[in-house]
Amino acid sequence: MNKIPLAIPHMSGHEMSYIQQAFDTNWIAPVGPNINLFEEKVRDYTGASYSVATSSGTAALHLALDLIGVEKEDTVFCSTFTFIASANPIIYQSATPIFIDSELETWNMSPIALEKALLQAKQQRQLPKAIIVVHIYGQPAKMNEILALAQSYGIPVIEDAAESLGSKYYGKDTGTLGELGIYSFNGNKIITTSGGGMLVSRTETTISSAKFLAEQAKEQAPYYQHEKTGYNYRLSNISAGIGCGQMAVLDKRVAQKRDIYVRYYEAFFNKLPVTFQTEIEETFSNRWLTALQFKGITPLVLKNELDKYGIEARLLWKPLHMQPVFKDAVFISENNDDQMSNAEYLFSTGLCLPSATQMTEAEQNYVIEICMMLFKQLTDNK
Ligand SMILES: Cc1ncc(COP(=O)(O)O)c(C=O)c1O
Repeated sequence: MNKIPLAIPHMSGHEMSYIQQAFDTNWIAPVGPNINLFEEKVRDYTGASYSVATSSGTAALHLALDLIGVEKEDTVFCSTFTFIASANPIIYQSATPIFIDSELETWNMSPIALEKALLQAKQQRQLPKAIIVVHIYGQPAKMNEILALAQSYGIPVIEDAAESLGSKYYGKDTGTLGELGIYSFNGNKIITTSGGGMLVSRTETTISSAKFLAEQAKEQAPYYQHEKTGYNYRLSNISAGIGCGQMAVLDKRVAQKRDIYVRYYEAFFNKLPVTFQTEIEETFSNRWLTALQFKGITPLVLKNELDKYGIEARLLWKPLHMQPVFKDAVFISENNDDQMSNAEYLFSTGLCLPSATQMTEAEQNYVIEICMMLFKQLTDNK
């Protein structure tokens, strides 16, 4: 039996025609019709007003911070329970990240910790220049509470919707709720361009400025004139062709991911001491990865055992404030100082299970069976 992967690219069959078209018309560049079409398809799908395709989600996030004017001496609040790419662009801008704890339902930024952090920042007379809110594993954060807090302090919110394309909050797409939103089309995401991203916004001028910066900040002049530092951050027309083909199956992929979640849920609920990431009432998750916490078992032990059976699982994100590269960063926990933070608790208790949309029901049943067996074995041996 082949290894059962966590999440891998899943082509629709429509991609090659867009790529062939790019070859036929010689649009082998980071400009071209596929890029325009892909941007339009993402706008149509998400309801975003304006969009610019980028070489990665990280690049889109970097542009967002640059557009907001984040610079040296500024602080930026960021969810701690996430992949490092959510925070790296803060460093690219020579600004300082302040990490915010999770709440234990959606596992995203805790409004309680955010309020604490904002009060503290106000007292210290240094409000953050922006707040980066992540929708982790596809599950939307508690956006009404977060946006209300941000608004009351006049701080723009950037949504890191890298993992949550197709997820909704009160019927609206994640990525379109804050001032700016970003998506990732990395190979492991719900749809992919092999590598790529998108920045979306409600305002046309923001996106035209983003395009300007992403194309080396070339001024209008008969020669190369540059008054600002720009980037080479545009998506290639070939990659955008993959994206166009992938958009045709986005809804199908969301349905498949949700079915995968339901099968795990029905198999484990009330049979194993597990807690799943909660899809709170106002949200609809694309369930990019099925993630759960286990009681009475060390996630790393379970992950290593699953590996022996050809099953790829992954530990939950190690919180960014625990990363050596951010060892000096300020972290605001939802809990008291003498208690473990929620993000650390999640990291020490949880695992993502195989969630690839190519996984057959038989393969998923095998994963479930092995999990059941290992859980019994590992907890009996204690
Ligand atoms: C939460 C999160 N933010 C940002 C990114 C960065 O996206 P990319 O890999 O396209 O740069 C990723 C994924 O890689 C991610 O999972």
